[in-house]
Amino acid sequence: MLSLTNKRILLGITGGIAAYKCAELTRLLIKAGAEVRVAMTKAATEFITPLTMQALSGQRVHLDLLDIDAEAAMGHIELARWADLVLIAPATADFIARISHGQANDILSTMVLATSAKIAVAPAMNQAMWADDSTTTNLNTLVDRGYHIFGPAEGEQACGDVGPGRMLEPAQLLELSSSLFETGLLAGKNIVITGGPTREAIDPVRFISNHSSGKMAYALAAEAVAAGAKVTLISGPVNLATPDSVHRIDVVNAAQMLDATLEHMSNCDVFIGVAAVADYRPAEVEAQKIKKSDEQMQLTLIKNPDIISEVAKLDRKPFVVGFAAETNDIVSNGKDKLTRKNLDMLFANNATETFNSDSISVTALTKTSESELSAGNKNVVARNMLQLIATALGAS
Ligand code: CTP
Repeated sequence: MLSLTNKRILLGITGGIAAYKCAELTRLLIKAGAEVRVAMTKAATEFITPLTMQALSGQRVHLDLLDIDAEAAMGHIELARWADLVLIAPATADFIARISHGQANDILSTMVLATSAKIAVAPAMNQAMWADDSTTTNLNTLVDRGYHIFGPAEGEQACGDVGPGRMLEPAQLLELSSSLFETGLLAGKNIVITGGPTREAIDPVRFISNHSSGKMAYALAAEAVAAGAKVTLISGPVNLATPDSVHRIDVVNAAQMLDATLEHMSNCDVFIGVAAVADYRPAEVEAQKIKKSDEQMQLTLIKNPDIISEVAKLDRKPFVVGFAAETNDIVSNGKDKLTRKNLDMLFANNATETFNSDSISVTALTKTSESELSAGNKNVVARNMLQLIATALGAS
């Protein structure tokens, strides 16, 4: 399983014939979920054009340390901080020598010096240059500093020689880059989460809703990203910032939440329904503001679709996790919902304690088990919930 989801890769290209392979490498990295930005040395631009790399990465290519426009968009220090991985491919003997000496005389070497991200180097050079003691010494220096050295491969070289010094193929560089991040519990999983309340309009200025703050869903989204997942958060109206790397889709009512959910089910591995969906909506939404008249007024409500049940009915059903916010008989009501909605897991909690609060205490239920999660901050509890989900996925 490739785990480059949400990873930010700064691809540094130096001037070797293998630079042309960076087009394919960029395509593969992006396909594996990474966000790619490219920096090139001057020599690299002789082998592949910045325009090609810009078109493939979808981002401006960084070429010059003293380019005012580029620095205004994202400065080199900012870019060095942004990256999770600096991948130098191809890395020439000259570039390896320069960074082994801590030089910072172009944009790429400067960023290598400035970054605290992982650094991987994919050497590419003539076999005699590779075998030279200077190159060996320089590479050993980089290894001692914790750099990762990818390759090189052996074979026929552009100059006609045969031996070690060819850059690894893009697919191999992709695998090795991914292996540097294979730690996340949910690495590479697609997770869709609904959160917050829904609002069901009565007229242009009034609606029916509930007290859900969205905090639990947002905590789960942030923690799922940290565990390596690709997260889509379908959110009702809340007053919360979108966690980093989360794809947030804003909706207002239950019908919109259902549509957005079903649109994102095709490659979903785990669906977590945290939203407090309004169970009913007004049968008619008045076009004009309703005026006060009689002592009593009647509002006819009709049932909203049950989003999580619709997901659980899909032919290609993800692992479905629900929440049950109850005010009484918490565990028995939770068990009933787990069965009725055909869920794989359900977290039952006390609604009066949970809404708008930063902490939560829950009982985790599956068809065959019941366990209490230790109460605490919603982020800590979210991490424990994801641990249980990851364990269940591993077993299924
Ligand atoms: N849910 C949903 N769509 C709805 C109602 C609920 O997807 N229209 C999901 C919630 O996101 C949650 C689970 O179903 O994961 C249980 O929600 P809850 O409001 O507790 O259940 P209800 O089915 O509404 O039952 P009741 O209101 O009768 O307790």
